Amino acid sequence: MSDAPLILGIETSCDETGIAVVHGFDVRSSVLASQTDVHSRFGGVVPEVAARAHVEAVRPLAHEAMMDAGVHPSDIDAIAATRGPGLVGSLVVGLSFAKSLAWSLGVPLLGIDHMEGHLFAPRLETASQNGSDFTPPAVVVLASGGHSQIVHVADWGRYEVLGETIDDAAGEAFDKLARFMGLGYPGGPAIDRASDGGDPAAIDFPRALRDRPYDLSFSGLKTSVVTYLRKAKAAGAVPPLADVAASVQEAIVDVLVEKTFNAARDTGAKTVAGGGGVLANRRLRTKLAERSEAEGVALRLPSPDLCTDNGAMIAAAATFHLQQGTHSDWTIDVDPGLRL
Ligand code: KG4
Ligand code: ZN
Repeated sequence: MSDAPLILGIETSCDETGIAVVHGFDVRSSVLASQTDVHSRFGGVVPEVAARAHVEAVRPLAHEAMMDAGVHPSDIDAIAATRGPGLVGSLVVGLSFAKSLAWSLGVPLLGIDHMEGHLFAPRLETASQNGSDFTPPAVVVLASGGHSQIVHVADWGRYEVLGETIDDAAGEAFDKLARFMGLGYPGGPAIDRASDGGDPAAIDFPRALRDRPYDLSFSGLKTSVVTYLRKAKAAGAVPPLADVAASVQEAIVDVLVEKTFNAARDTGAKTVAGGGGVLANRRLRTKLAERSEAEGVALRLPSPDLCTDNGAMIAAAATFHLQQGTHSDWTIDVDPGLRL
């Protein structure tokens, strides 16, 4: 893709500043300033603290991304930044920085939907993975800290959200349950690690909304885990942490896999893909792989570091829009409630 645009992608929707240089769908560099340490003291993301941390990180990180890629600002063809959904203060930092940079370099600006970014992550090519053979039609499961959606991608740019969570997002469920279990923040990776060696069938936590093919619900699971652990504690019979973590994880993973493959079956899609932080989960990746093989469906998952928030996915979605001949207007603003 020698004529492909060279794009600087900026992601600041939540608690990670992610900046990348992407050439077409080829990741030339991708750097991250994580705020996990700042927020773990509070057990979750504090919006005001997040926005300030983005202000500190964004300029040096953009410099680092260009140095890593071996490019000069004058080589960049377009600047892309997340415009929503996300935390308003955090989004403003990234989009304003992108606007000034695009304006001063005289290149197009693209405001990108964060969830569309996650959708494009499986298309990214890195040294370790070739995502270029990810082509629609496909069913994509997007699961992050703020969203859980099952999306039918008829073609790039043509998305239908078939199902979504009616309460908590999958990542939010991991985070809340981990906090209750004393595992800290962020909860997804903590439960993933704590489940090592545990028995996923040790405790049969409920799988909600069995009667709705694509929608998800996780708030009942939270109540059920809390009630179970309180009772177990009172009875002096708390199971090993690894068993609890593995069982909680299994309950979340099972419904994500089931609803995704319901959608693949009903749409006839022969490709299943995924994006969002929860797709970094090892058990979810294994079960998606097993099910895909059993159903004869191709599976396209980004590497774990491209599942969680990053600038490369934002640049990848921008590559598509730029190649369609569209970019944003200077009047573009952030949209914290943006929907795919
Ligand atoms: O996509 P993402 O990085 O940010 C948002 O857009 O929200 O997703 C973050 C979410 C968090 O809830 C985090 O706990 C979860 O993804 N997560 C995981 C894993 N790694 C991150 N959940 C389960 N297992 C993991 N290994
Ligand atoms: Zn995300």
